[in-house]
Amino acid sequence: MSEQQSKRWITLNDMPLAATDRLDHPAAADTIRRVTAAPASPPAESLPAERVVRVALPGHAYDVTVRHGLLAAAGAAVRAAVPGAVKAVVIHDLNVPAAAVEGLVGSLRSSGLEPLAVPYPASEANKSWDWAGRLLDPILRARVDRRTPVVALGGGVTGDVAGFVAATLLRGVPFVQVPTSLLAMVDASVGGKTGVNHPAGKNLVGAFHQPVAVLIDPAVLGTLPDRELRGGLAECVKHDLIRDAAGFERFERDVGRALALDLDYLAELVAHNVAIKARVVEADPFERGERAHLNFGHTFGHAIETVSDYGYSHGESVALGMVAAVGVSARLGLLDEPGRRRVLAAIAAAGLPTGGLSLDVDAVVAAMAFDKKVAAGRLRFVLLDGIGKAVVRDDVPADLVRAAVEGLR
Ligand SMILES: NC(=O)c1ccc[n+]([C@@H]2O[C@H](COP(=O)([O-])OP(=O)(O)OC[C@H]3O[C@@H](n4cnc5c(N)ncnc54)[C@H](O)[C@@H]3O)[C@@H](O)[C@H]2O)c1
Ligand SMILES: [Zn+2]
Repeated sequence: MSEQQSKRWITLNDMPLAATDRLDHPAAADTIRRVTAAPASPPAESLPAERVVRVALPGHAYDVTVRHGLLAAAGAAVRAAVPGAVKAVVIHDLNVPAAAVEGLVGSLRSSGLEPLAVPYPASEANKSWDWAGRLLDPILRARVDRRTPVVALGGGVTGDVAGFVAATLLRGVPFVQVPTSLLAMVDASVGGKTGVNHPAGKNLVGAFHQPVAVLIDPAVLGTLPDRELRGGLAECVKHDLIRDAAGFERFERDVGRALALDLDYLAELVAHNVAIKARVVEADPFERGERAHLNFGHTFGHAIETVSDYGYSHGESVALGMVAAVGVSARLGLLDEPGRRRVLAAIAAAGLPTGGLSLDVDAVVAAMAFDKKVAAGRLRFVLLDGIGKAVVRDDVPADLVRAAVEGLR
């Protein structure tokens, strides 16, 4: 761990729990109800809260719990989510600090489970069929059974691979997500998509396998590289833009607190974004309709990511993609000019690019046609019909698409 990283690391155990925020939805819409605990020694309002977002899918409901110090208390949560388990497998990203791995593994052990820690060098290149197989070897040798949970501790890459391992191991074992990147917390850990890359393309092999629990400890964000933090913020901007105008206003006001690693704010931000993603996924668990709204900024974004050969990170590409998409929305008269400017300002305030694209425009436009979300030969775009409301259009004229990419230069 670098010196800068270790300075930002916050002891996982140092934040007590006394208040519970519970968000049940869809009923509770967007407000997180604060349930203050019974009399606690320090005043309840000075203590960090727990926030629980229920994800209610047909035949499968689970909680996403956000709480300071949760990592070191994960054992009890895993036991509760997987009654009857004797062992527990932890697939952990090698970039996650040892203290976090030990906190989680130690907590599983103290709760009476037999943990098996399987290290994984997370990277897009290692998000592969080959690595899924290599992870399965020690797990099968450990004679796990169908009640043995697979716990993913890491970013989205680790969650996707470990989820795929959980989906295929003994034809499916319980899966627990402990996401450690902001992107994994607000996006990859909700929705049940698992999988690996293939030489033919990203995420082409996989399965839907919902977790039984998602446990989020914002303190782990203390060691996340800044660029990764900003990348996660791109998905947060996206969520508010497609669903929540009031959330967007709060983001405009408070994004600086996220960049300053204010953990209380990050906990609130994560719970808010999990709730938005959960609502979209609940409405469309198998991605047949409105879940497409989550691709806002991604049709342009994937093309930028590919043409730059991943020189632009996913978050940076999506940021530019959202700028292009609001450009198209404005040109079609769906979004007014002040609205467009607000979106650009919020993206910039999150430390993400809004212009300066140095790629060949033709190459980017050509790459969009290969996006796997093309329906029946027509390019579909998610646009904004005002801030907070997404619409899908498949009638965007080609010259507008080109102009939007040119506008990113
Ligand atoms: N399943 C889904 O619905 C879904 C949704 C969105 C993205 N994804 C997938 O998620 C992946 C991207 O996720 P990501 O951005 O988390 O990438 P990642 O897992 O590669 O994590 C980013 C980097 O941060 C490191 N890291 C993670 N947590 C850390 C921590 N706490 N401290 C220090 N370093 C840490 C990782 O090792 C990696 O180098 C992509 O493969 C994408 O396809 C999946
Ligand atoms: Zn994304």
